[in-house]
Amino acid sequence: RRVIGLVVAAGAGERAGGGVPKQYRRVAGRAVIARACDGLAAHPAIDAVHVVIGAGQEALLAEAFGGNPPAWTIGGATRRDSVRAGLAAIDGTIVLIHDAARPFLPAAVVDRLLAALDDADGAVPALPVADTLARGDAALGDTVARAGLNRIQTPQAFPLPLIRAAHAAWPEGEEATDDAQVARAAGHGVALVAGDAALDKLTTADDIARAEARLAARLV
Ligand code: C5P
Repeated sequence: RRVIGLVVAAGAGERAGGGVPKQYRRVAGRAVIARACDGLAAHPAIDAVHVVIGAGQEALLAEAFGGNPPAWTIGGATRRDSVRAGLAAIDGTIVLIHDAARPFLPAAVVDRLLAALDDADGAVPALPVADTLARGDAALGDTVARAGLNRIQTPQAFPLPLIRAAHAAWPEGEEATDDAQVARAAGHGVALVAGDAALDKLTTADDIARAEARLAARLV
């Protein structure tokens, strides 16, 4: 078995502000992308980490890792394009596809994902939705029943040939916000394992400030 961590980091990350894409922002002295890779690289079951970066981000990547970056590939215009570029560049039996914007990865989540692959074609971390969900823009629209709804996080674990084939079968031009929906559309059963609030994605400048505060308080 050869397990690869594939970190997609080719997004513009503009909603966080600050001039550089959010994955290259530093949180308590270490870049978000480096922290996302650290969690995978530190896990004893993971053999290698590969990152997917945007064209022209080579210098940012090197700087984020203090001059010693992991293997990398150039991504594409959508998250799915970036995932496909990464899947084509790696060699292994199992892949954990992870967003660079999720810098804190508890080892226990990786344990649960790999264990779930014994009985399923894929596995994803999930947390139940706690807030009320409702449609609307300025005015409140219909409430959506939250029972049975989950927030799906990354890393998402699959056998490498399976997820490559599923991406090849996904309709061109259709949007996919994660890889589990691509696997499921190809007919594969994807297991839910317990996610972790520490894995929540950093999107805005506020999220980055909160991550700093969590680290300072040693909550992660
Ligand atoms: O934009 P969003 O937060 O959903 O992106 C999730 C992850 O996918 C981020 O880590 C981002 O860098 C990555 N991504 C990518 N290529 C794109 C768009 C997003 O690798 N074209």
